[in-house]
Amino acid sequence: MRPFVRLGATAFSLALYATPVFAQTSNLPERVIVNLTDAPATSLAFNWRAAPDSGDGFVEYAPLTPGPGFVQQAVRLPAQRTAAAFKTRDDQDVSAEYYSARITGLTPASQYAYRVGKEGAWSPWRQVRTAAAEAKPFTFLYMGDVQNDIRSMGGHAVRRALRETPDAAFMLFTGDLINRADNDVEWGEWFDMAVDRIAETPSLMTPGNHEYTKPQGAIAQSLARQWRLQFTLPDNAPVEALKETVYRVDYQGLRLISLDADMMDESAESARAQIAWLERQLAENPGHWTAVFLHYPLYSTAQGRDQSELRAALQPLLDKYAVDLVLAGHDHTYGRGRPHAAGPVYMVSNVGPKQYPLGDLSWTTRKGSGIQLYQQVEVSPTRLTVRAYTVDGVLYDAFQLDKPGKAPAKLVDLKPATPELILRKDDKQ
Ligand SMILES: [Fe+2]
Repeated sequence: MRPFVRLGATAFSLALYATPVFAQTSNLPERVIVNLTDAPATSLAFNWRAAPDSGDGFVEYAPLTPGPGFVQQAVRLPAQRTAAAFKTRDDQDVSAEYYSARITGLTPASQYAYRVGKEGAWSPWRQVRTAAAEAKPFTFLYMGDVQNDIRSMGGHAVRRALRETPDAAFMLFTGDLINRADNDVEWGEWFDMAVDRIAETPSLMTPGNHEYTKPQGAIAQSLARQWRLQFTLPDNAPVEALKETVYRVDYQGLRLISLDADMMDESAESARAQIAWLERQLAENPGHWTAVFLHYPLYSTAQGRDQSELRAALQPLLDKYAVDLVLAGHDHTYGRGRPHAAGPVYMVSNVGPKQYPLGDLSWTTRKGSGIQLYQQVEVSPTRLTVRAYTVDGVLYDAFQLDKPGKAPAKLVDLKPATPELILRKDDKQ
């Protein structure tokens, strides 16, 4: 009988390959991710998914110990479970159980072990840590659009960034993580870029225009269905419609604010809500530093682009409250400058393979195109240093902001004396 059994198995796998099966899930947890919450010193958020009808899921966690002893002390918490079944715009059938769990009551500046899943189907134990409760030095990674050829060409840049920054407190993505809003194969590739690091280094992400889609015949655009199913981002949006796209986090002396730039562009009502909310976050900032991150740049770097409405709407507030940094993506080029002496330093960067030609960049101190970059942002109580590296690990740009007392910060340019890399129209990539 054996050969028949084997033949049967082969026929079955051939059948699987012959039919395009999208979003195929297993009983084991997949797409495991840790996100920062609005209280990063005492809580962390986890998401994952598994095959349809996988039943209840749990997160188990314990303070990390020098040996395997933590396993005996693990606390088990049930996750929220959402059974999702939907068709994507690319006609893929997505069917999975999505799980989300927020653990609270953690000790600041501490290491924890955690795993997710259920009996017989656990993820491996992984390590995470909480933020300190007070202002303390840390480094985070800022990365622009991954968007295309995600696992391979975007992934190698993200993996290099992570290798060069082993102690990154978190990763921050400024939108267009993928190319076609709810394409589930692309989201699968995003998680596959760095499976273990995405599960161990918390992420923050703001949506770009490619996370939004307007279904045929619809009046309004909608956020990729996967966004809220697969991430648990800080829950302090001004209105329900902007949940997990507009939020703030205070991390060791830095207030980070995510704006939903695409919704500002799409809806005057959303723009008004975001601007009013932003002003409160800036006026009530308990931290020494402020960084705003959003997909569309206020100062463009790509040829033919100019976000003049966004700039007019936001810049007066950013200047008034002496925001230190504005981090953006979208333009598939690099630019960094401080167009107004006392205003924020604006940055546009690009981690993925898609490249655009540069536009008029009179506002920049450093610019580049035809390159993939990642940024290390080192924050300490009175100095903030940003270093941009190309994907080969070479320093491309750097500056620091010194702010021992009151704002605005003093800018010190540290860019290397290397030529700017500019992609010409006829250049071969
Ligand atoms: Fe974009």
